[in-house]
Amino acid sequence: MALEPSQRGKNAQASPIRRLSPYADAAKARGLRVFHLNIGQPDIPTPPRMLEAYRHFDDKVLAYGASEGSLPYRTALAKYYNGLSALSAIAPVLPSQVLVTVGGSEALQFAIAATCDIGDEILVAEPYYPNYKGFAQILGVATRAITTSAADGFALTAEQVRAAIGPKTRALIISSPGNPTGAVMNAANLREVGEVCRSAGIFFVCDEVYRDFVYDGSGRAPSVLWQPGLEDCAILVDSVSKRYSACGARVGCLVTRNPAIYAAVLKFAQTRLSPPVIDQFAALAALDTPQAETDAHIADYKRRRDALVAGLCAIPGVRAQTPAGAFYLMVELPVPDAEKFCIWLLEQFQLDGETVMFAPADGFYATPGLGKNQVRAAYVLEVPKLQRACQVLTAALAQYPDCLH
Ligand SMILES: Cc1ncc(COP(=O)(O)O)c(C=O)c1O
Repeated sequence: MALEPSQRGKNAQASPIRRLSPYADAAKARGLRVFHLNIGQPDIPTPPRMLEAYRHFDDKVLAYGASEGSLPYRTALAKYYNGLSALSAIAPVLPSQVLVTVGGSEALQFAIAATCDIGDEILVAEPYYPNYKGFAQILGVATRAITTSAADGFALTAEQVRAAIGPKTRALIISSPGNPTGAVMNAANLREVGEVCRSAGIFFVCDEVYRDFVYDGSGRAPSVLWQPGLEDCAILVDSVSKRYSACGARVGCLVTRNPAIYAAVLKFAQTRLSPPVIDQFAALAALDTPQAETDAHIADYKRRRDALVAGLCAIPGVRAQTPAGAFYLMVELPVPDAEKFCIWLLEQFQLDGETVMFAPADGFYATPGLGKNQVRAAYVLEVPKLQRACQVLTAALAQYPDCLH
């Protein structure tokens, strides 16, 4: 008899962002060009100074590093976080409050593991980044979702959070700017939600990996690190993946001013020995990226966002709103089952040798039935490619047998 995996292995959900990849691979093997709007893999070049650092790394032995990350990198990160706010009422972030992780992904796992026991629960705002539920599930932690909607700009209110906290809730995890919604929490909103968490005795895990991706000219989304009163309950998750278009570097970090949480996370970090040494060296160099370079990329993303929203809204039956941040948006399609449509796009459709791939949105919701007619689109391609993807989608919907429009 074949040996079976664990129940948790069997129950794990395949990523809605990646699970249709075999269909895309097959389409490419048939010679089709696929526009990947399914995944947040930016095509913006990684900063030259970061790539240079990789070339200049000349240690003779590629040894383990410190479990909490290299001191020069943590010191530079603390300086970076302290530069995000001039609020002198809050104590500055210390290098000993920063722990370097293998991507933001590991920081999320550590945050859940340090705040929840088996059988506890995290709160998320749906639609959410699906790996929140994935990581929780690996750790035996349940996910409870607060539903937000396009009609309210996917806003999450303090009242919603208060009403959703139950006896098993140990942490709220949000991303702002948000994946998949693009919603950005302003400072007052962050403070109010954080205050509800603090007074209920739960942790507030803020995933700020898209901090720089805001399009209202304000430069950056507000950080939980600088909201007064939240020093004990706030846990920041961050990453170089999106900010420096360096997803393959696998460097992120967790920041907390709560010494007991830091101590717990450090034990997890020691178990996995060390984060990648060479990538920290490169990430340290990336921190010196001139603001003008970042600003140029953000302007580029804004053009992409506007082109994609305009292209989508011109398609009969398609609904999308302009997101305030990150590089995603939720799109309503005139189809009964968006996943089926996404597979059909890859298996059966082409327009002059081209097709398009989206992430079906039901995997971004915990509530059954929600997101059935939605997809998440990422605007990580150049404007002409996004415009062409919209032409492909227009032709596809006109031909799709189950199109409701
Ligand atoms: C909201 C959010 N958090 C965390 C991550 C994890 O990123 P990484 O592990 O590459 O740092 C992602 C990646 O797409 C994300 O969208």
